Amino acid sequence: MRVLVTGGAGFVGSRLVERLAEGGALVDVVDDLSTGSARNLEAVQRYGRVSLVRGDVRDRDLVGDLVREADAVFHLAGAVGVRRVAEDPVDTWSRNVEGTASVLAACARLGTRCLVASTSEVYGTRATGVLAEDAAVAVEPTARRDVYAVSKMAGESLALAMHRASLLPVTVVRLFNVVGPRQSERYGMVLPRFARAAVRGEPLPVHGDGRQSRCFLHVDDATRALALLAATPAAEGLVVNVGSDEEVEVGELARRVVAAAGTDAPIRCVPFADVYGEGFVDPPRRRPDLSRLVALTGFARARSLADAIAGAVAHARAGLDPVARAPR
Ligand SMILES: NC(=O)c1ccc[n+]([C@@H]2O[C@H](COP(=O)([O-])OP(=O)(O)OC[C@H]3O[C@@H](n4cnc5c(N)ncnc54)[C@H](O)[C@@H]3O)[C@@H](O)[C@H]2O)c1
Repeated sequence: MRVLVTGGAGFVGSRLVERLAEGGALVDVVDDLSTGSARNLEAVQRYGRVSLVRGDVRDRDLVGDLVREADAVFHLAGAVGVRRVAEDPVDTWSRNVEGTASVLAACARLGTRCLVASTSEVYGTRATGVLAEDAAVAVEPTARRDVYAVSKMAGESLALAMHRASLLPVTVVRLFNVVGPRQSERYGMVLPRFARAAVRGEPLPVHGDGRQSRCFLHVDDATRALALLAATPAAEGLVVNVGSDEEVEVGELARRVVAAAGTDAPIRCVPFADVYGEGFVDPPRRRPDLSRLVALTGFARARSLADAIAGAVAHARAGLDPVARAPR
């Protein structure tokens, strides 16, 4: 089995590459290292089954050559992170729309099995219920944040259109907040940001009033779900939520991170407008309906939020102490 992982030097991608290589697959990675790092793949090199091509998925010739060698493709490359998207919406659009179109076109030419990573952001900022895949969504293309949602939705829409035209055995995976080792805080990811502040005894900046709730899935569970879905023919042509059902308010998350760090770091609420500018809206709740994932694959979460918090705190501590090793 030979597999192509786009964005495989990133946070989720590098863990997926490890899982696939551990399972015996040959893995090609294409990544432009814009937010990912070759260091993320150092540990997996011991299997001798992983090769990294530094390149851009918008390069259709390159992607065509790589897909030709692959039995299956996991498309994870893209611009991610609230802060990064807010800072460069045009680049976000190009990476997510043109990049996904390039990968899907190559897969469609050869009929290659493909999983496309999408996001819970496509559910928009207003929904308050448990989010099922067929729910009508209401994005606001004029809102700053929604360029990410719209760009990922465009990829979903093209993938499903190609499936309907019998060109592409594809599954769209809507990931809800994934956490774990190697997640960068640079692009607005909340758990590593909280963990870093907590171990330093610095204020934890909770955006808004902290009452918004999220469900955090450990990256090991997320990549297991991706691998299971790729091996499930019944998932072809479907959108599938992948997330956790363990819900926590962001203010409460901050309190739990401080407790895990064992410091007396204070918690400070910061208005969204101060962080991302006027007009930024944050969804009050993001909880996935997981019944489709469970029916298709029997998936059950193995890791808890407490595990993820402990891991993030250990990782932040390792960053403080250059001698300590970050956990995998
Ligand atoms: N982490 C989450 O909580 C989360 C939630 C929802 C969806 N997702 C989706 O999962 C995927 C992976 O996200 P992540 O958290 O690992 O982010 P990440 O930034 O760590 O990984 C993205 C990778 O893609 C690479 N990349 C970006 N543009 C590229 C291009 N044009 N060509 C080649 N490589 C490119 C980056 O260098 C990086 O290695 C993304 O598609 C994202 O939208 C992630």
